[in-house]
Amino acid sequence: MAKTFDDIEVRRPDLARGYLTLLRAQPGRPIAMFAPRRVGKTFFLDHDLAPVARDAGLLPVYADLWLQRSAPLEAINHALEEALDDITVPAGAAGKLAKTAVKKIGALGASPDFGDAPARRTLPHAPQLRLDALVTRLAAAAHAPVLLMLDEIQALGDVSGGDQVIASLRAVLHKRREHVLAVFTGSSQEALASMVASAGAPMYQFAQLLNFPVLGDAFLKDLADHFAKVHRGRKPLLDDLRRVFEKIGFKPALIKDIVKSMSAEGTIDVDEAVTRFLRDDRQVAGWRALLQSLEPIERHVLFVIAKGMPPFGRETLETLASLLADRPTLSKVRTAVERLRRAGILAKPTVGAARIEDSLFAEYLAELDRERLR
Ligand SMILES: Nc1ncnc2c1ncn2[C@@H]1O[C@H](COP(=O)(O)OP(=O)(O)OP(=O)(O)O)[C@@H](O)[C@H]1O
Ligand SMILES: [Mg+2]
Repeated sequence: MAKTFDDIEVRRPDLARGYLTLLRAQPGRPIAMFAPRRVGKTFFLDHDLAPVARDAGLLPVYADLWLQRSAPLEAINHALEEALDDITVPAGAAGKLAKTAVKKIGALGASPDFGDAPARRTLPHAPQLRLDALVTRLAAAAHAPVLLMLDEIQALGDVSGGDQVIASLRAVLHKRREHVLAVFTGSSQEALASMVASAGAPMYQFAQLLNFPVLGDAFLKDLADHFAKVHRGRKPLLDDLRRVFEKIGFKPALIKDIVKSMSAEGTIDVDEAVTRFLRDDRQVAGWRALLQSLEPIERHVLFVIAKGMPPFGRETLETLASLLADRPTLSKVRTAVERLRRAGILAKPTVGAARIEDSLFAEYLAELDRERLR
């Protein structure tokens, strides 16, 4: 039983096992799980999929492609190299024991099982060849297939040459299908749209696309039960929690904050708590500071998007012209949208409708009077 609200975590090993079963049933074909931001994709990879994979005799390797979006293939290779080092490089004083292990691995690397793993040759420099060599070598060294977990795959839709990276991945995952399985995560269908839109739709045909399920009642019940423990049996209604959880976009960390604030106030009125949360001075101060840090055009572009206007529409330009001192050109609006995306304020993918990442911030903006923007 959780000691504090922060200890409450939902584990989904069955979901993880289901994904592994699916992966094994279709060698060479990765799974791509899509879900909006902040719903728990990375948490799942880390806390559910990786341990279940390890138990199943796989070696999980994680790479975040958003963090290194200028060089995604290099980021993947780097993660594989780290994993290889973990296995083969003797750690500090324990060197002696580990060294014998390395020798054994070297010998096995040349065994028929892992035939083309030239363990002693230097790795090729060309990223695609390097990926190929690393996957083989790592599987040989670990005596286990690798589970490659690529987080934020939609970053590939944003970089020039992203198609090429997908093509490389596809080739290696197919060729080395006995030695590597792969799971991708991405945020939302917008990402998907950009992948499909990219020439030849390589991603769409290649990976199996799944909607990653958001957390459900189990999590909300745990929150309510912990509330009851603290408040002598009094607790918020599950129905209320469900409704609000949906409203805030199924974000576990956010609903936890809201329930914590309810606990602090001793109230079980969830809707009121959300409203209060929205008006909370600190919250609002944070949003104001964020708005102040933006250029006027960015601020106003955000504002019109919050009002539901398409950022590049004719009417939007008219509205922006009325709000700003200088009439903005379309290219200035584009630049502003791009900057807002890079700052993570707008959802990341570049194709599809513009959307404000944080639904509560969007709600705050939508209700904001235009006078307050200045
Ligand atoms: N199963 C869970 N149980 C409890 N809390 C969770 C769970 N999954 C996620 N969270 C909470 O939600 C937060 C966001 O989760 P996470 O970073 O995994 O989301 P994400 O979908 O990867 O988001 P992003 O799209 O921004 O990368 C976590 O920091 C954690 O506090
Ligand atoms: Mg994540």
